[in-house]
Order: sequence, then C-alpha cells, then structure tokens
Amino acid sequence: MSDAVLSQFTQQVEEEKKVSGRKLKVGIIGTGWIAESHIESYLEMDDVEVVAMADLIPGKAEKFAARYGVEGVRFYPSHKELIDNEQLDAVSVCTYNMTHAECTIYALEHGVNVLLEKPMCVTTEEAVEIMRAEKKSGKILSIGFQPRLDENMKMVKQIVQSGILGKIYYIQTGGGRRRGIPNSTFIEQKTAGIGAMGDIGCYSLDMVLNAIGYPKPLTVTGYTSGFFGANPKYNNPADAARFNVEDFAAAFVRLEGDIILDFRISWAMHIDSPGDTVILGTEGALRIPATECWNGSIGGPMTIYSDMAGNQVETTIPVCENHGKGLFYKKVRSFLDAILEGGEAPVPTSQIIYNQAIIDHIVKSAKLGKEIEVVIPEI
Ligand SMILES: NC(=O)c1ccc[n+]([C@@H]2O[C@H](COP(=O)([O-])OP(=O)(O)OC[C@H]3O[C@@H](n4cnc5c(N)ncnc54)[C@H](O)[C@@H]3O)[C@@H](O)[C@H]2O)c1
Repeated sequence: MSDAVLSQFTQQVEEEKKVSGRKLKVGIIGTGWIAESHIESYLEMDDVEVVAMADLIPGKAEKFAARYGVEGVRFYPSHKELIDNEQLDAVSVCTYNMTHAECTIYALEHGVNVLLEKPMCVTTEEAVEIMRAEKKSGKILSIGFQPRLDENMKMVKQIVQSGILGKIYYIQTGGGRRRGIPNSTFIEQKTAGIGAMGDIGCYSLDMVLNAIGYPKPLTVTGYTSGFFGANPKYNNPADAARFNVEDFAAAFVRLEGDIILDFRISWAMHIDSPGDTVILGTEGALRIPATECWNGSIGGPMTIYSDMAGNQVETTIPVCENHGKGLFYKKVRSFLDAILEGGEAPVPTSQIIYNQAIIDHIVKSAKLGKEIEVVIPEI
C-alpha cells in the first residue's frame, strides 16, 4: 500500500472514529404525537443514535419505531425501565404534562441530559423539584419552546432589547381560537393537568417574557373557565363528557420592574381573536398582529409606534422568513450542541420556571377568586 493510499485510509478511519466517538445515545420517553418531530429530527443527524423508546401503552413504542423504520431499538413499558437499563447521553421527554416532572427528575438523577417538551410541567412545586434535580445533576435540561428559534420571535426580542421602546410598562398578550379544542390526552386533568394554558398559552408568555428578559412574576389575578369543552353543543359528546381542564384563561400579572402583563388564551370563544399582542414602552410601542406564536408565526407585519421630530409615526417591520431546517430540528440540534459543547441549555429552566409559575398561580388565583402573591420556593 502506497504512503498516499495509507494516509488517505488512516485519515478516513480517524474521521469515522471522530464521528462515532461523538455519536450520542438517545432515548425517547412517550411516543405520541410530538415524539414524531423528535424522531424525525434525530434521524436526520449523523451524530445521534436513537437506542431506546418507552411508552405506557403496550406496543405503542414498537409501532412508532416501525413507522419510522428504526431498527435495533430496545423498548420499555415506562421511563423508569428505560433509564434503569440504558446508558444514555440524552432523552426526549415527550409525555403528557402530568408525567413531565417524574420522567425528567428520574432521568436527571441518573445522569441523563433532558430535552423536555413544553410546558415545563404543571405546578410551581414540580418546577422547583425539576430544577433541584437539574442543579444536583449538572446535566443539560432544555424546555421545548421551538418558536423561540423563529426569526419573527427573535425580531420581537431584538426590537425590545434595542431600547427603542424605552422602558416597558405594559404588555397585552395571548390569543387563541374561536373554536379549536384538541382531544386525546390534552383535555383531562389526569394527563394534561392544565388545558389551553399548557397547550398554547405558555408560548404567548414565552414570546413576551423572553423579549423582556424574563422578569420575576410578583402577583397574579387569574380566571379560568371551561364553558365550551364540557358542552356537547361545542365539543363532541365523548370528549365533552371527560373534559375537565380550562378552555379559556385570563390574568393580570405584576412583574418585577413595574411591568403589567395582561394575558388571555382560548381554545374556544365567541370571537375570532382576543386581540393583538401589544408591548407599551415609554418611547414607543410594538404591535404584533394576533399571532399563532405556538406555530412559530406572527399574524402579519409588526408595527412600531413612536414619535419622531414631533410627529407620531408608524414603522412597519416586514414578516421575516425562516431559512434552513425547521424549528423542531433546530430545537433538538441546539439541545444536542449544548451537550457536546458543554454550553448552557438553549431554553433554560431559570426562565421557564416563571412561565410555569404564572400559569400555576392563575390556576390557584382562579380557585381562590382573588389576587395572590407568586411564591417560588428556594431552588
Ligand atoms: N413543542 C410543540 O410544538 C408541542 C406540540 C404538541 C405537544 N407538545 C407537548 O408534548 C407533550 C406530549 O404531547 P402529545 O400530543 O405527544 O401527547 P400524546 O398523548 O400523544 O403522547 C404522550 C405519550 O406519552 C406516554 N407516556 C406518558 N407518561 C409516560 C411515562 N411515564 N413513560 C413512558 N411513556 C409515557 C403516553 O402513553 C402517550 O403515548 C405535551 O406536554 C404537549 O404539551 C409540544
């Protein structure tokens, strides 16, 4: 063998070793709907090997793997057996909200990095327990808010952070649908824990709170109702009979820094939209047209309102286009890159705990029928 051929061969072996050395072993916990976007993303990546899957429903994980033509995967009846029997670098927790905390804590306690689907969990107490486990483990835990990677969402943050709006003092956000109640595991306390807030409301909160740097929530006056979901006139009778979460929520939240957050979210109501997202500052305001920010989109060009040389002016910000891979892929990739490069979690719990606390305190305030203080135990 000539030196040139030998050198080429050695180089090839070294490159393969480098790649295989970096191959991350990944497990998927919960093989329902959102798990599809995780497996599709992992399958596109050369440095990842999906080695295990778990689901509480017998045979579901096997069918899921077969659908994607994934071979050589080991299957387990719950997150515990999967974590106990595998040596994993990471798991995707794609279960319904009520098992987010137990799956995530168990994985972290066993030294596994976690990409946890949104919402982070259901209660503030669970969020605190998750963060304690995260802190103890030193592992990466990122929450699955992929719309953050959308160019328009980035633009919202860029505008606010540029200072052009001055000091932010009032935000109106939320949105929702005239009719659009999901079904499956989303509509029962025992699986979802929360309704429209956990499904889509958490995204609206993330859009604006991320833009303003996630200030701590101080007090919440919350309202929740379920007039549509439980009514067979507006929902199919079988789903209406088991529906016991909120299909509408509204809240008035005081945030640190003297900022008021006015929030409403809907799966069903008798109007097309509860309004645009509006961010008011001392030097300008931003209007984001009624947005499906949960899909990583805005409802049209944004407008900045300000005064210029004594004139009230409006500046249109055109809708930005996304390039390259989709948001789900970017979400998974940014999580894996944080593991490989030893970086920070792309969507850290230190922020999302405030998102979760707002939702949880809306539930608590609504039950009590009065304003309550936001209490977050020490991590
Ligand atoms: N990021 C997004 O765009 C997005 C979109 C949809 C849903 N979600 C979130 O993803 C989560 C799941 O939603 P879905 O629509 O896929 O739900 P789903 O009900 O279709 O799937 C959840 C699966 O998890 C399994 N499961 C629950 N606990 C488990 C455990 N301990 N071990 C193993 N398996 C377990 C269930 O059996 C079920 O098959 C929800 O929290 C939801 O909010 C995120």
